Amino acid sequence: MTTEEQPTNEESAVRERHNPVMLRRCLDLLAPALAEPGATVVDCTLGLGGHSEALLGTFPAARLIGLDRDQAALRLAGERLAPYADRATLVHAVYDELPEVLERLGVPRVQGVLFDLGVSSMQLDEPERGFAYAQDAPLDMRMDQTRGRSAADVLNTYPPGELVRLLRVYGEEKQAKRIVEAVVRERAERPLTSSARLVELIRDALPQAAKRTGGNPAKRTFQALRIEVNGELESLERAIPAAVGALAVGGRIAVLSYHSLEDRLVKRVLTAGATTTAPPGLPVVPEQYQPRLKLLTRGAELPTEDEIAENRRAAPARLRGAERIREEHTA
Ligand SMILES: C[S@@+](CC[C@H](N)C(=O)[O-])C[C@H]1O[C@@H](n2cnc3c(N)ncnc32)[C@H](O)[C@@H]1O
Repeated sequence: MTTEEQPTNEESAVRERHNPVMLRRCLDLLAPALAEPGATVVDCTLGLGGHSEALLGTFPAARLIGLDRDQAALRLAGERLAPYADRATLVHAVYDELPEVLERLGVPRVQGVLFDLGVSSMQLDEPERGFAYAQDAPLDMRMDQTRGRSAADVLNTYPPGELVRLLRVYGEEKQAKRIVEAVVRERAERPLTSSARLVELIRDALPQAAKRTGGNPAKRTFQALRIEVNGELESLERAIPAAVGALAVGGRIAVLSYHSLEDRLVKRVLTAGATTTAPPGLPVVPEQYQPRLKLLTRGAELPTEDEIAENRRAAPARLRGAERIREEHTA
């Protein structure tokens, strides 16, 4: 998720516990697939377990599989979902590992999949995780702190051209070149290790006009680093088709995105699944070319103004849903 101003205290994490984003709409989208006894729903981004708790409470015959790559999230969600322990299986995994996880659990097909992308308030609020530009912390930003390179590693070791590309593509940062020049000057003196120093460098590097628009000037750089450190788009690009592939016919998927790069990718995969692959001009479209998905949302649905007033985290949310309507044709 990205927001204009990041939460800076415990309160927002507590609020998020009570306010999973677009909850009612997510439940409604998935409901027709989850009413039958034995239905399985996968929450691919368990986080603090808010959506999962509501899914388990609303669909008493459903079983839930919850994934998160962050072990702290799994611990917290585990406590929250303890009353449903007999119907919930929580797994430490990156969501593109969904097919392997389902195979290990002996679940060939599922009836529902939910993604609530991005970072959780808990991750933002814990300074030592290094996600927040509003607090000084080591530049880490790994959702899974057991592996991978940190934001500091990226900033201190990537070639300048590569850093410019990251900031432009993942941060949509127009001032990428100036910021990277400042980073390269700094790292020639001493490695960058703290988020406050990076924020300071960014502020100093930007022209006055750029500082006046678009909220905190470090926002886009932090988004870019977070996406790179966690391989977020590569993982999502594999995960959405994998999730669609895991759906039984009649199964449903709902995806909440928080920035245009995520939403574009989700839109592309769902729209492609809902489009015929027949060569143009066939009078009747044979079964193997028929779409395997039906879109459940017209474009992306947005949160209501009331919801945004209650929960700032919801503001950038975009929700898309689809239903699996056909088996893959393998002929
Ligand atoms: C916005 S939070 C989810 C909040 C949750 N829906 C709730 O109601 O509490 C997103 C979560 O997804 C996790 N996550 C992000 N990318 C992931 C990935 N590629 N694989 C697994 N988990 C991921 C993050 O660690 C974070 O805990």
